[in-house]
Amino acid sequence: MKYPIDKFQSLRTPFYYYDTELLDETLQAVKAQLQPNWHMHYAVKANTNPKVLRHIVEAGFGADCVSGGEIQACLDAGFPANKIVFAGVGKSDWEIELGLMAGIFCFNVESVPELEVINELAQQHGKIAPVALRINPNVGAHTHDNISTGRAEDKFGIAWESAYDVIEHCKQLSHIECIGLHFHIGSQILEMDDFATLALRINELQEMLETYGIHLQNINVGGGLGIDYEDPDGHPIADFKSYFETFRRYLQMRKGQQLHFELGRAIVAQCGTLVSRVLYVKEATLKKFTIIDAGMTDLIRPALYDAYHRIENITSSEQSQNTYDVVGPICESSDVFVRNYTMPTTRRGDLLAIRSTGAYGEIMASQYNCRTLPASYTSQELCCQE
Ligand code: LLP
Repeated sequence: MKYPIDKFQSLRTPFYYYDTELLDETLQAVKAQLQPNWHMHYAVKANTNPKVLRHIVEAGFGADCVSGGEIQACLDAGFPANKIVFAGVGKSDWEIELGLMAGIFCFNVESVPELEVINELAQQHGKIAPVALRINPNVGAHTHDNISTGRAEDKFGIAWESAYDVIEHCKQLSHIECIGLHFHIGSQILEMDDFATLALRINELQEMLETYGIHLQNINVGGGLGIDYEDPDGHPIADFKSYFETFRRYLQMRKGQQLHFELGRAIVAQCGTLVSRVLYVKEATLKKFTIIDAGMTDLIRPALYDAYHRIENITSSEQSQNTYDVVGPICESSDVFVRNYTMPTTRRGDLLAIRSTGAYGEIMASQYNCRTLPASYTSQELCCQE
């Protein structure tokens, strides 16, 4: 990725930098794969920065939200309410009311008690709530345990075996309209077989429901497509072709059915970089530490999931190499971006680019240690700034 380094030099670090040209290219790559009855609801939990959302709205995508705050951010960013879906195991009453009043496309419902509360609130407000039942497909995905969601032991969704009963239960609820089924098996999934397995499970369920004469208008397969954290420049755009092709091949759609997707990471991860400055290089007994001004408060993924993010020194022309632990300033031993990492010899003042941080980066930042939240700039802003 090319960086406007002169512009970077005058900015206070750390900050997030978004390459909006790459974001637009990625959005076009997704659009090119969508069939007329397919709908993309960008999973806004990955990145809610208004500068990023603006591009996604312009691409014509809908949004997948998991809180009232996200719904509000999407409405403010200009997403049409009727393209917003609202998921989550613990929706508060005010969040449900916000969705009802805004007229969102549907609530992805995760339990019977939730269904009953939505029915009650819809009745109070004189609305009919459109819902899709989130069914736990009991499919294990090849990904980190903390981001796998579709196994029977995970907290998400309605048990596979109860799907029919819950659809029937919806019919008893006067202010609920069941318009579809929703699934999601996990995140950072690179094995297309996992999505194929999901598609086959959905076929199974649809066949079973059909024997009871049940036809639902919408199928939502969630998100989860992974990206290449090792080689972001080699694969700046995720393998959308294989991903969509998998559903095209394996998922049997019924006549008139609409297919919905909720990709987050694959849309925004590669366009984002966390830019940080080297504060000190410390030579300890056993290792060398590159201590930078970004910490786990700015990017928690390495500490929380052992996630790898490529790190590049973007200002050094140093030929010699050294091996470092790259660490942040936070008072926690887990505030480590990478261990035993070989890169050009690093000095105080160098700028480091922490790559592929457009998804679950800025949005997961915290103020622990009374840190200020990182600023953000887009390539568009910096190229036009004098
Ligand atoms: N739909 C549902 C119901 C989800 O729970 C998620 C992500 C998505 C869609 C979007 O998944 P994606 O396409 O982004 O993989 N903070 C973690 C990831 C948590 C994902 C939670 N759910 C990380 O930094 O890796």
